[in-house]
Amino acid sequence: MRENNPLRIGLIGFGCVGQGFYNIVEQQPGLNLAITRIAVKTPGKARPLPAECFTYHADELLADPDLDLLVEVIDDATEAFRLVSAALRQGRRVATANKAMLARHLPELVQLQAEFGGTLLYEAAVCGSIPVVRTLDQYFSHEPLRAVSGIFNGSSNYVLTRMSEEGSDYAVALAEAQALGFAETDPSLDMGAFDPRSKAVILAAHAYGVFLAVDEVLNLGIEGIAAADIAWAAAQGQKIKVVAGLYRLPGGGLTALVTPQLLGPESALYGVEREFNGVVIEAEFAGTQFLQGRGAGGHPTGSAVLADVLALRRGLRYAYAKRPTAPDAQLTHGLELEAYVRHPDAGVLREVLTWLELPPEALHTDAHGSFATGAVPVQQLWAWRQELRSLGVFVARQGEVRPVAVPAGAALATAELV
Ligand SMILES: NC(=O)c1ccc[n+]([C@@H]2O[C@H](COP(=O)([O-])OP(=O)(O)OC[C@H]3O[C@@H](n4cnc5c(N)ncnc54)[C@H](OP(=O)(O)O)[C@@H]3O)[C@@H](O)[C@H]2O)c1
Repeated sequence: MRENNPLRIGLIGFGCVGQGFYNIVEQQPGLNLAITRIAVKTPGKARPLPAECFTYHADELLADPDLDLLVEVIDDATEAFRLVSAALRQGRRVATANKAMLARHLPELVQLQAEFGGTLLYEAAVCGSIPVVRTLDQYFSHEPLRAVSGIFNGSSNYVLTRMSEEGSDYAVALAEAQALGFAETDPSLDMGAFDPRSKAVILAAHAYGVFLAVDEVLNLGIEGIAAADIAWAAAQGQKIKVVAGLYRLPGGGLTALVTPQLLGPESALYGVEREFNGVVIEAEFAGTQFLQGRGAGGHPTGSAVLADVLALRRGLRYAYAKRPTAPDAQLTHGLELEAYVRHPDAGVLREVLTWLELPPEALHTDAHGSFATGAVPVQQLWAWRQELRSLGVFVARQGEVRPVAVPAGAALATAELV
């Protein structure tokens, strides 16, 4: 790199994150960074910079040898993968915020870095401003972790907070979140817990060295939640939060899932409200740590992109140090959790009980109608996940995921067979 010359950055995408990053760099000339080229998609769109600042062909940035590094912050995961993988094949340094792309292509992107010598950093992709990727990758590179869990989606957390504060229904809280810009017009990725699932998959690579297949991780969202569920939780002194979790199992394997969870005040996540995100790291030797911050927005996310750009200048690469000792993933088979299940239609709820192998005694009634509680095999939640989602059944877990308890007689029978 040219001595004392500013680091030349090619910025691909100039939306919420791109503009946030640009603005932060403009405010700090002492950083010696220069965003020399910007690529966007749509000609003629009103922008805060003159039209001559932009190109509409991101490939021109890939072909420009004067750029020292690229920042990819577009909203199209397929195109982002094409651009980022092409840049890595050139051995370039790249920062990205695209969690959907990373969750699907991480093994390939890591391989491209090893093969061609480029570097990819992506702090902004997980929990916006919270420095969790680097913390897990670098600081905890050799520390065994019992669990990494958290609230990884600010939009659904905002809806849950407002429902809890106002006693309002889901649709009302969602409409408010959308009006304030805290939720997308199409809320399905956030409310259905697909977005936090991508983030959990990314963190698994750094916390445990495991590359999980994103489509194999169970994600249950809050589309079916009602004021009755919030009220039931409150009556137990609890709140409902969408918790993404990576947990070491007693046998040593790793499990991962994202579901609504009932939490009491003893949980650090209990107080994470509105659009905020929070991460709890339970480390074998260091003990438990908690990080909280803004998970989205132009400046918080742009700040994480800036941290990556400065780290790329210093030559930082992720270590993925736990790859050689990665545990096996055990995602659904042989696991169970304590579930709370509700649907306003008693007939649907009875049907759901059979799917989830809950006995009739699991059914209860309160002022709002019927609901069920009891131990449910994770495999059954997985098998019926699409039906649960399309029928608007609300499922929350209470406590930890655990291996299914083998009845004493069954264990004996197995032992006798050996
Ligand atoms: N928003 C957040 O708070 C946040 C937080 C964490 C991570 N992220 C991630 O950051 C990325 C960007 O999000 P965003 O909210 O900034 O999106 P956005 O506001 O929708 O902006 C997307 C930008 O990408 C440009 N673009 C799309 N396709 C392109 C292409 N093929 N070539 C060049 N430019 C292209 C768009 O161009 P036009 O301007 O011409 O339409 C626009 O400038 C996404 O991966 C998102 O998941 C966002």
